[in-house]
Amino acid sequence: KKVQILVCGGGNGAHCLAGLASLRPNAEVSVLTLYADEAERWTKVLVDKKLKISATYNDGTNGELESRPKLITKDPASVVPNADIIFMVVPAFAHQQYLTEIAKHIKDNTVIVGLPGQAGFEFQCLSILGNKAKTCAVSSFESLPWACRILEFGCHVQILGFKESLGAALLQGSQCTLSAPAFDTIQWILGEKPKIKPIQNYIAVNLMAKSIIHPPLMYGQWSKWNGQSLDEKPLFYQGVDDLQASLLSKVSDEVVATAKAIEQQRSGIDMKDVIHILDWYKEYYRYQVTDSSNLMKAMQTNKAYDGLLHPMKPAGDGKYVPDFSYRYTAEDVPFGLVVMKGIAQIAGVATPVMDEVITWAQGKLGKEYLVGSELKGKDLPSSRAPQSYNFHTLDDLFNV
Ligand code: NAI
Repeated sequence: KKVQILVCGGGNGAHCLAGLASLRPNAEVSVLTLYADEAERWTKVLVDKKLKISATYNDGTNGELESRPKLITKDPASVVPNADIIFMVVPAFAHQQYLTEIAKHIKDNTVIVGLPGQAGFEFQCLSILGNKAKTCAVSSFESLPWACRILEFGCHVQILGFKESLGAALLQGSQCTLSAPAFDTIQWILGEKPKIKPIQNYIAVNLMAKSIIHPPLMYGQWSKWNGQSLDEKPLFYQGVDDLQASLLSKVSDEVVATAKAIEQQRSGIDMKDVIHILDWYKEYYRYQVTDSSNLMKAMQTNKAYDGLLHPMKPAGDGKYVPDFSYRYTAEDVPFGLVVMKGIAQIAGVATPVMDEVITWAQGKLGKEYLVGSELKGKDLPSSRAPQSYNFHTLDDLFNV
């Protein structure tokens, strides 16, 4: 029997996964995209074309791969009931919509994968799946396996780089039985790279999410801004200064301290994979960072970041102003920092720098998650903090 793979989404990552998975023998791949008219458009494109992946491998060689998913649809009922494994490959703000639409159709022993999950993915999944979570498995990856972008919608995507390895957690329901271990199946679908690195517990993966990077850099850059429009969009990473690097480093320290505090309070819990952001750059971007003597230099000299700019919108006078509705704040705060703050609060760890960044960002977003140093703002329920789903103690977090 063929493995039934469902890819949810229609963006860069969804194109890559749909293409790669369709290359596997013994697999049948469907795509579910609920956004606008993407399903119709993608279906039409593939009538007389294949989906091409132009890949640059880590040894510098290039390759082209061609395949075609079996079906692209916006109707969950036509694809979810058969799926053995369902990948969510959409920005975190879209997870709720997908999970809500697919939940009632999911069969027993299905694996649901957040690729990437982003912080709070499991809390949201468990809440929306309800009782069904017992018969399913939920996995979340710390990031997307590739740096990628669509070149032509529906039929051509470029993989600029494969991550060497990628951390992932798995929560398997007590009544879920899988015919093969979930990570073996996912590795087979992804191919050789990245190598999946199993992380001992899902809270660690939540604390490893890379949503910590953007908000402190945004805060460092724009909290001192005088409101004047700018002639050019500033460089996001190559332009990082001492203040921004120091803010990010301190937020990362607070996340690592949270992990350590949990380890001390729970026997058997291993948080060694929650590492400081500078150590992460040294490990994950070994070949791209040319100067890793400190965090500022590591970001300024990371080739993977070349030319990336601050999110800006036109000011009307031919100049630019910052766009605070971009996902660097709109996604990475409610589905990132606020979740980590929630875990820190449960672990009893103070996070003054994270609080400062969240307080500034929520002002720009017109939201209220934090009041002083406590997560009790009126918009907390729309974030994925554990408290939004009634997790208030370490027992709540670890007895799922
Ligand atoms: P993307 O930006 O290509 O996603 C766009 C897709 O999301 C759309 O095609 C549509 O299917 C869906 N979408 C957009 N607006 C929507 C709405 N209002 N309602 C419902 N669906 C909507 O995302 P991409 O690049 O595939 O990234 C997926 C995740 O991976 C994100 O969390 C991103 O931060 C992360 N990531 C992406 C990397 C990349 O190289 N593309 C690298 C590392 C992480």
